[in-house]
Amino acid sequence: MRSDYCGKLNSNHIDQEVELCGWVHRRRDHGGVIFIDLRDREGVAQIVFDPDRAEPFAIADSVRNEFVIRITGKVRNRPEGTVNPDMPTGEVEILGHTIEILNKAKTPPFQLDDENVHDDVKLKYRYVDLRRPAMQNNLRLRSQVVKEMRNFLDDKGFLDIETPMLTKATPEGARDYLVPSRTHPGNFFALPQSPQLFKQLLMMSGMDRYYQIVRCFRDEDLRADRQPEFTQLDIETSFMDENEITGMMEEMIHSLFKKIMNVDLPSPFPRMTYAEAMERFGSDRPDLRNPLELIDVSDLMKAVEFKVFSGPANMEDGRVATLHVPGGSKLSRKQIDDYTNYIAQFGARGLAYIKVNDVGAGAEGLQSPILKFLPDEVAAKIVERTNATDGDLIFFGADKTKVVNDALGALRNKLGHDLDLLQGEWAPMWVVDFPMFDYNEDEKRWDSLHHPFTAPNTTDIDAIKQNPGQTLSRAYDLVLNGTELGGGSIRIHNAEMQSAVLELLGIGEEEAQEKFGFLLEALGFGCPPHGGIAFGLDRTVMLMVGGESIRDVIAFPKTQSASCPLTSAPSKANPRQLKELGIKLAKSNKPE
Ligand code: AMO
Ligand code: AMP
Repeated sequence: MRSDYCGKLNSNHIDQEVELCGWVHRRRDHGGVIFIDLRDREGVAQIVFDPDRAEPFAIADSVRNEFVIRITGKVRNRPEGTVNPDMPTGEVEILGHTIEILNKAKTPPFQLDDENVHDDVKLKYRYVDLRRPAMQNNLRLRSQVVKEMRNFLDDKGFLDIETPMLTKATPEGARDYLVPSRTHPGNFFALPQSPQLFKQLLMMSGMDRYYQIVRCFRDEDLRADRQPEFTQLDIETSFMDENEITGMMEEMIHSLFKKIMNVDLPSPFPRMTYAEAMERFGSDRPDLRNPLELIDVSDLMKAVEFKVFSGPANMEDGRVATLHVPGGSKLSRKQIDDYTNYIAQFGARGLAYIKVNDVGAGAEGLQSPILKFLPDEVAAKIVERTNATDGDLIFFGADKTKVVNDALGALRNKLGHDLDLLQGEWAPMWVVDFPMFDYNEDEKRWDSLHHPFTAPNTTDIDAIKQNPGQTLSRAYDLVLNGTELGGGSIRIHNAEMQSAVLELLGIGEEEAQEKFGFLLEALGFGCPPHGGIAFGLDRTVMLMVGGESIRDVIAFPKTQSASCPLTSAPSKANPRQLKELGIKLAKSNKPE
């Protein structure tokens, strides 16, 4: 039907007869001549219909936006003065000879170039939304990324192996999506939160290097970089340590950015311990393009009268930290109030600040509601330690360490964007030496920071039991511009250690057998040392295209409330199906 893509035509095609198919992007009537901008996946070409050819002219006159048409015609140079340098096809136009309407279209639910369409409407008509050139580019780039990932891993001897979707729960910290079993009434499959356990089993099978581009399912609160179903590049290797694995993965990310974006990422990626990242940035995924840093002043506050500061300064799990904002003294009272409200969501109970007007003038040169509570020499030391100078502002956070880190970490990100402070375009980094466990205050027990199969950095089980809070793991995260792109670890490959860790997590023998008995058993049948990583494919592509949400790079994503306006999923089940499955709905959930 077609000789060329519209978007590929250029002056090399002059005088050629072409056959084009596509959507009517726009139709214009210019003093008796009709112009049709014809759009396909590759771009837009301008077709001209002269009234000399009465029949095609009449058809051209009748088409409307988004009609699907086929035309034949001859490529020619655009007349002088009408060349459009902004369009790849802007030097040429096609003199239309024939035109055929392949399908009419109703008036589209929104204009493709309308920026103000509600998200739900866009998702309901996603197939129209995906016609937008930006979306087409995003999905094309995604396809290229996947291809390059496969090429890289194939060259390194990785095997692409599929793992089950109907499976048992894999604990990655979210709720499971359950699927009822008809043949085993009352029993449920879980959709995988990740292929974690299967990829470990594949190492025990001697597959040595595995990868999979795989859908994962997590029922968790959705955010811009989270979807209930998303795609991982999932990887596992045997007989490689953490330096070898992160080294190879770094090579892959390097090559991906070079081949697809022609970007040279820094080499090697900086590495930072979890402890340092929390201390300096209040976050385990800091955006290193942002020059702001948290500076600890707990030691200076231990003896001050101001209880708001001296309290946390003397608490074992407390912290007083500053965030020094160069040029920040121009922030208005209103702006500071807004930032104070913003960090309240992280539990912060206030946001004290000092404006530095004149460093030379000592305490006289400082301006702040809290100065009356601080001795002059403490104020002077704060200024000295933060290196603040005239026109700067120093924010304070004082609370439990977690609250201060969460609040000032988030404020740091917000100020970075609001005050346009980000430097450079790409800032990748590895975060390493994570704590093995995280204390769950609500349930008074230890959780794993990554997942329960992550190896500790010691083989001394007693030492771990005595001091879980101090135990570090052999996990690593890849962070890019403040987004966690991937995370992985060396795994426990010893049954005794695995049982000890599960026990520490409060998972008793019986529960462990019931949930992961198959893994514990497999560890006893010849398990190599192994480790791996999983990258969020959606997040990787989102950063590459400069998107704001992973929805921009997923063809058919879910809404904020985890539904699909296009298909109206999820929807009620047929009562007969439910009966077959042995499921009875609670009264409140029964269909009308
Ligand atoms: P983790 O849970 O860190 O590790 O997931 C790996 C990467 O997957 C991406 N990701 C998500 N992307 C979109 N929406 C979500 N809801 C979502 N959740 C996670 C992130 C994240 O870095 N089995 C381990 C990996 C391993 O140890 O090998 C795992 O799944 O980019
Ligand atoms: P107050 O004495 O409560 O009025 O607080 C004086 C200043 O300290 C105000 O600017 C508050 O925003 C700030 N503040 C109060 N609690 C905290 C806290 N936990 N961390 C940082 N600043 C605080």
